[in-house]
Amino acid sequence: MSTLFTPTQVGPYAVSHRVVLAPLTRMRTDAGDVPGDLMVQYYTQRASKGALLIAEATAVSPRAIAYAGAPGIHTDAQQRGWKRVVDAVHARGARIFLQLWHGGRQAHPDNMGGELPIAPSAIRSEEKAVVRDAAGAFLEVDQVVPRAMAAVEIPLVIEEFRQAAERAKQAGFDGVELHAANGYLPDQFLQDGSNLRTDAYGGPIENRARFLLEAVEALVGVWGGDRVAVRISPSGKFGTMSDSDPVGTFGYVAEQLNRYGLAYLHVVEPRIRGYEDLALDAPAVASKSLGGLFKGPIVAAGGFSRESAEQILAAGDADLVAFGRFFISNPDLPERFRLGLPLTTYDRNTFYGGDHRGYTDYASHREPMPA
Ligand code: FNR
Repeated sequence: MSTLFTPTQVGPYAVSHRVVLAPLTRMRTDAGDVPGDLMVQYYTQRASKGALLIAEATAVSPRAIAYAGAPGIHTDAQQRGWKRVVDAVHARGARIFLQLWHGGRQAHPDNMGGELPIAPSAIRSEEKAVVRDAAGAFLEVDQVVPRAMAAVEIPLVIEEFRQAAERAKQAGFDGVELHAANGYLPDQFLQDGSNLRTDAYGGPIENRARFLLEAVEALVGVWGGDRVAVRISPSGKFGTMSDSDPVGTFGYVAEQLNRYGLAYLHVVEPRIRGYEDLALDAPAVASKSLGGLFKGPIVAAGGFSRESAEQILAAGDADLVAFGRFFISNPDLPERFRLGLPLTTYDRNTFYGGDHRGYTDYASHREPMPA
């Protein structure tokens, strides 16, 4: 008996199974960071009746972008582009949330006219940003030492999240997910390895969580609690992240989020770094531990197979499971799982940037495989 294929409720929405499309940056926008025809086709392929999709990390402001080619939701053209995606997904009977994203210190000056990225503290992340070279080709570059935000700037950035949430609503999305995972801005405030502030946004956990919770409040103000979600990666090291007490830090967040009646809490499981699989060597904060604190639905993500997804659902440690890499190469992933069909393997060379190849040319099982 499969638990993956039982219906459930996400906020006000009935969904017909537990297989969720994870948010996936694919860097395939048209000029102006606008979702175009290629993205419409990609999301349409992955939409099926009763499914829940989470659209990729989308910049809330021109200063939020870490990867050239990723979409935004701060201009009219971007909003119109997303509306085309949403309309196409709805026409297939699926629901779609938008992941709202601010890269903070992971953003890069070359993507924002030479300006330094902003962060809680002037500490560099040792990952790569993606910019364009003079010929417009993608280039990986080291991230830079960011500028510590002045206290007066913080409400302005929260306001950018609010405006992005407003635009997402006008574009017709079913809800929004705050990207508080993977070492981006809300996560940078939250974890003490990246936050050395001594004002109301740094120091004790009540202060370090303030930015994340104020962002949630801004989104809830636009959408109501039951159409807002939050993604966290309590054990994630991506983005040079660290915290001296992950159990206390993320436990506090999970409990505080109970105030809003959120659609779900999305938890990246410990065995994933960004999207690389890790051997589990230490006990870590995961859906299992946070599910005891957070009172709403839990979406778990990170390294799941059909079998391990069934297990976490059966154990009651998650309510839905989001799939990333397998959904890239299997546009009809829920159907393949339901029918027990073999999966197509993914090609990581085409994960980020490029054209339709490795993006919209993975066949669903009814179609002949592309040559
Ligand atoms: C990701 N991941 C990711 N996470 C996120 O919160 N926002 C994002 O935009 C992205 N972008 C992204 C792009 C690509 C190409 C990959 C492979 C991954 C992480 C993703 O949502 C997921 O947590 C991981 O891929 C682990 O799940 P799987 O792939 O093991 O099912």
